[in-house]
Amino acid sequence: MPGRVYITQPIPEPGPSLVKEVAELVEQNPDDRILSAEELRTKVAGRDAVLCLLTDPINESVLEAAEGCKVFANMAVGYNNVDVAAATKRGILVTNTPGVLTEATADIAWTLILGVARRAAEGDVEMRAGRFPGWGPMYMLGGDVSGRTLGLVGPGRIATAVAERAKGFRMPLLYHGRRPNPELDALGARQVPLDELLAESDFVSLHVPLTPETKHLIDARALSKMKPTAYLINTARGPVVDEKALVKALKSGQIAGAGLDVYEDEPKMAEGLADCSNTMLLPHLGSATVATRAAMSRIAGENLVAALQGKRPPNLVNPEAWKG
Ligand code: GLV
Repeated sequence: MPGRVYITQPIPEPGPSLVKEVAELVEQNPDDRILSAEELRTKVAGRDAVLCLLTDPINESVLEAAEGCKVFANMAVGYNNVDVAAATKRGILVTNTPGVLTEATADIAWTLILGVARRAAEGDVEMRAGRFPGWGPMYMLGGDVSGRTLGLVGPGRIATAVAERAKGFRMPLLYHGRRPNPELDALGARQVPLDELLAESDFVSLHVPLTPETKHLIDARALSKMKPTAYLINTARGPVVDEKALVKALKSGQIAGAGLDVYEDEPKMAEGLADCSNTMLLPHLGSATVATRAAMSRIAGENLVAALQGKRPPNLVNPEAWKG
């Protein structure tokens, strides 16, 4: 069985070991560094399989250089970094790692909901800077969470896990998505049009994949529909939000604040965002727990191994490319 594999960065076990058990040659980028498309082109040439990350630009030119490759196994649930249509055209399978990062990502969404409303990150900075003047009746007042309305944009697994946690906070739930989600319905959530969700929610939490349709879904117009007391939470993908428009909305008080784990042009963020004290800003930590990353590594490894062995990978995102 041919088995020349490339892994684009150091990743946790057990993915690399699973791959090494079956592949004849495994090369791995030894540096914690994102390779450019140009570097990737050189590295993927002549490989039978590639294990890649959400930061790797697997574009048309990289796929072209990967002529003959069976699979790009992306270690992420999102796969907007891969030109899936171009992969399908070339008969290259693309896989992802759904399910295992649902809970960890929902936890980060909740970290942001509580953190931004109750000004936790801002308070931490005040303490460390020695600026705490002592308890005061007007000092650092934030927004309430319990009993407030939570609006979920995108009715998938992560949105459902966020909604489950919201029950403990007795929050009325709204959601927006193309299809009804019976699990969200069972939690008492009401499916509504996006504008209604934006107008009625105290927290708007984003859980859509990044596609041409969802790019800048939350733009200046959408932000203008939100209440001035409402918070925007993004644990999905940065480009779902027009970050420049968000900075304006945050600075003008059009919305109360934002909790962000993802950015339009990572690892950078829009000018002015860092100066907005009404934000909690995390460096894309949604799936960053030891157990979650190990589970993602295992699933990516299993998908890759299946493809190498000529079997249908369990988490195929382009079944049209599967020749059976
Ligand atoms: C994380 O952002 C993922 O898509 O897995």
